Amino acid sequence: MLRGGDRLSVEVRPIAPDQLGAFIRAFSAAFLETISPDDLRQWQRTWERTGVIDRAIAAYDGDTIVGTSATKPFQLTVPGPASIPVAGVTAVSVLPTYRRRGILTEMTRREFESARHRGEIAAILYASEGVIYGRYGYGPATFAAHYSITTDRVAFVPAVQDGGMLALVDAAEGRRRIPEIANRHSRLRPGSIPRAEANWDDWFEDAGKEHDGMSEAFFVIHQDRNRHDDGFVAYRSTGASLPTGPRNTVTVTRLTALSDEAYVSLWGYVLHLDLVGEVNAGNRPLQEPLRWLMTDPRRLRTTSVGDGLWVRLLDIPACLEGRHYLCVGSLTVEVRDAFCPANTGTYALEVGPNGARCARTNLNADLVLGVAQLGSLYLGGVSFSELAHGTLVEERRSGALLQADRMFMSPIAPWCTTDF
Ligand SMILES: CC(C)(COP(=O)(O)OP(=O)(O)OC[C@H]1O[C@@H](n2cnc3c(N)ncnc32)[C@H](O)[C@@H]1OP(=O)(O)O)[C@@H](O)C(=O)NCCC(=O)NCCS
Repeated sequence: MLRGGDRLSVEVRPIAPDQLGAFIRAFSAAFLETISPDDLRQWQRTWERTGVIDRAIAAYDGDTIVGTSATKPFQLTVPGPASIPVAGVTAVSVLPTYRRRGILTEMTRREFESARHRGEIAAILYASEGVIYGRYGYGPATFAAHYSITTDRVAFVPAVQDGGMLALVDAAEGRRRIPEIANRHSRLRPGSIPRAEANWDDWFEDAGKEHDGMSEAFFVIHQDRNRHDDGFVAYRSTGASLPTGPRNTVTVTRLTALSDEAYVSLWGYVLHLDLVGEVNAGNRPLQEPLRWLMTDPRRLRTTSVGDGLWVRLLDIPACLEGRHYLCVGSLTVEVRDAFCPANTGTYALEVGPNGARCARTNLNADLVLGVAQLGSLYLGGVSFSELAHGTLVEERRSGALLQADRMFMSPIAPWCTTDF
């Protein structure tokens, strides 16, 4: 429900295909950005190719677009690995002159209804600000660490002798081979979503541009002993000339490996690059083996940790049945959902050797929590105990917290490298 007398003229509805330009211009203005005609054409092309245009809604004041939102259909990888259909919410904006009147709230309600109709059982998004989405039942579920590694005196422990091979390839070769590696990885890693072909075109186009004083991206692909591609790194460099000689900084924009050998080999390659004094890496998973591979682990500093994907469960039983668990067990969980009150209730989760069953129950709850907390816990990267120590999960049966941790935790940190 939109708030206030003058605001009732605002109506939320799907956009017509010829309004895509106005839609993109509105959300650019809301993000304080101007958009060049070239960029506008590129957006339009990608959105037409990915079908987003059919799923875009806008808030209209008369014929003027004053708020925007869209979703993309994704398969989100969940622990197992398994996957569930989700709505990837994007392009959320309200013009500065229309804010704090309930327009986002109304658009979110509409997005959730449409997602349910399409059989999408959860919604996911990246948040521009951490304060916005908790109220709608989203919780941060993947995280992104940034590293800085001084490489001058770093030795990398293993001498990798995996029979594999590294090849420095150009962007055209990368475009042919890298998406397959990355998308295979996305289907294995909880929290990941495979990137659509059109978005790969954009990714490589961007990689071919210089950014913030950094070079275009370089690409190196790892092949296993059977000459199958099983990992890659993309990186940029910034040059500096010191009296002692060149000292570049390398920024790893993506390093993805399908095998442990490829992982070690690719990091070894990056850390041993000549003429480099520092390696930075963005959007890394919260836990990974790199620190353990260095003779001096202190050289790796985590410079920041931010949230990645936020997850909002829409169909709680389907979501809980859709993932796998580390051990068998039964739990009853009372979930409170103020934004979608129909979800509020107690659910019995039974995990047996043949999978999970989840349904509403009249049994007493072992644990009580909000739907946003369940969203954070869902991918297995956050522990029930941690949230309980913050009074965000209530344990009503002794032992239930530990049991929930054992069942839900993922042995590898959920991680998403696909932006949308
Ligand atoms: C974020 C944004 C879409 C919110 O739109 P809006 O129509 O003003 O949101 P609503 O009026 O529905 O807000 C609902 C509630 O959330 C709060 N809220 C929304 N955005 C907020 C923000 N950025 N900071 C603090 N509170 C916010 C409102 O105060 C309101 O609280 P209340 O119900 O207690 O009064 C709008 O501020 C915007 O376009 N920001 C710039 C672009 C952006 O960041 N988009 C999000 C991309 S992920």
